[in-house]
Amino acid sequence: MHGKGIICSEGAFWSQQRLWLGGALKQVLKDRNVGEEVGRKLCTALAKSEGQYLDLTPLLSHYIGNFMNKIIFGMEYSEDSATWHYLQELREEGIKLMGVCGAVNFLPFLRFLPQTSRNINWIKKGQFQTHKEYERIIKEREQYLSNCGTPECITDLFLIQMEERCAAGKDLESFTREQLYYLQADLFGAGTDTTLTSILWNILMLAASCSSGQDDHFMSTDNPRTNHFKNHSKTYDDALDNLLTIPTINQETIQKELIANYHDKHSNNDDSYNFQVDTDAITKSREQKGMALLKAFVLEVSRLRPVTPLGVPHGTLQDIQIDGQILKKGTMILPNHWFINRDPQVWKDPNEFKPERFLEAGAARNMFPFQIGKRRCIGEELARDLVHGILACILKEYRIELEPGTDPWCTPNHGFTLEPKKFRVKFTRI
Ligand code: HEM
Repeated sequence: MHGKGIICSEGAFWSQQRLWLGGALKQVLKDRNVGEEVGRKLCTALAKSEGQYLDLTPLLSHYIGNFMNKIIFGMEYSEDSATWHYLQELREEGIKLMGVCGAVNFLPFLRFLPQTSRNINWIKKGQFQTHKEYERIIKEREQYLSNCGTPECITDLFLIQMEERCAAGKDLESFTREQLYYLQADLFGAGTDTTLTSILWNILMLAASCSSGQDDHFMSTDNPRTNHFKNHSKTYDDALDNLLTIPTINQETIQKELIANYHDKHSNNDDSYNFQVDTDAITKSREQKGMALLKAFVLEVSRLRPVTPLGVPHGTLQDIQIDGQILKKGTMILPNHWFINRDPQVWKDPNEFKPERFLEAGAARNMFPFQIGKRRCIGEELARDLVHGILACILKEYRIELEPGTDPWCTPNHGFTLEPKKFRVKFTRI
């Protein structure tokens, strides 16, 4: 990346871009209910496949990807665009290969192996093609701005920043055209795959928790909950009885809460459905109040199935001592979310799927899906709005059922992100 973009840049260059990007994202997202925006489009598309089992990945990839296109480039691709298909394929394959090539970070000599060097060349070729497409879009945006169009996207704001610096005779510093390509690619890559994967995991677990499905998916032999009950109940039949009452937060209870909140808001009738839970732990405003159960569910899914299980690596800038351990300057630090989220000193019954744990005040403070510190995910708020908003839209309209025979707890695919194995679900209007 030649130290360009935002994910791989450092020092003063990164600081300048990060500060600017924070403001630009705020401006582009101002007054928008992004989750509902994307969720509504998705629900309309789902109506066409109602009653049939389908793999949701292509639809999600199209709608979430196009949302990112809109905020980054000010444009969307049609579903049948060949360029769009190519860009999506690049993103999907790129994520898998980044996982494979990631080993080069630890064992640099691996880059000389024929397969690894073929993969790295494939990524470089994709990058070249992507930048060519970005240049085409940038020219369109320059044309749009020169016709006095108001800025609509990150690209527009970046071009204006360049223009203003030129007009004032100032140095462009980090605001170069080449930086724009890398920034666009970073935003698209960082925002699309993570959000998409997070929604897929939630759809899988929501479908698995649907009591009207044909299988009891939480009964899979690989399910830690089942094993827990196998080990701790007197008989396996006792365990089955126990499981019937769990999870107390499942698709139906979340649906009831969302629908009750919807009616509540639209009828101003405060006597309607009330869950009597301590929602303060995870809700900030009355608007968000009707999502306490959904938010607890999403947190529990991301605890047991973290989208970036090994996070994004960092390095020490100087020798430091943490908890008695000396880390030399230049040491690579990998935040192991998989372990952090299962640490028995922090989590009671760490391997059990219990969304209820997040209704307790303070529980969410032990989760760091967006990492911490000054480099934490800049899209955190956007990601939460998208994930909660899209899931809420779907759940208010549809019951989601998992294809019989699917094991939601089977071993996931591991690239840069942790993805569920392909699965199919059926959407039926409620
Ligand atoms: C569920 C969705 C998401 C998850 C789990 C996630 C997670 C992460 C993580 C773990 C990091 C590394 C932070 C660090 O280095 O300490 C990161 C960085 C980043 N994320 Fe996200 N992210 C999500 C969505 C998004 C979205 C929607 C955007 C779009 C704006 C985005 C943009 C970025 C960028 C630009 C960085 C690099 C920040 C920097 O190095 O300064 N992410 N994200």
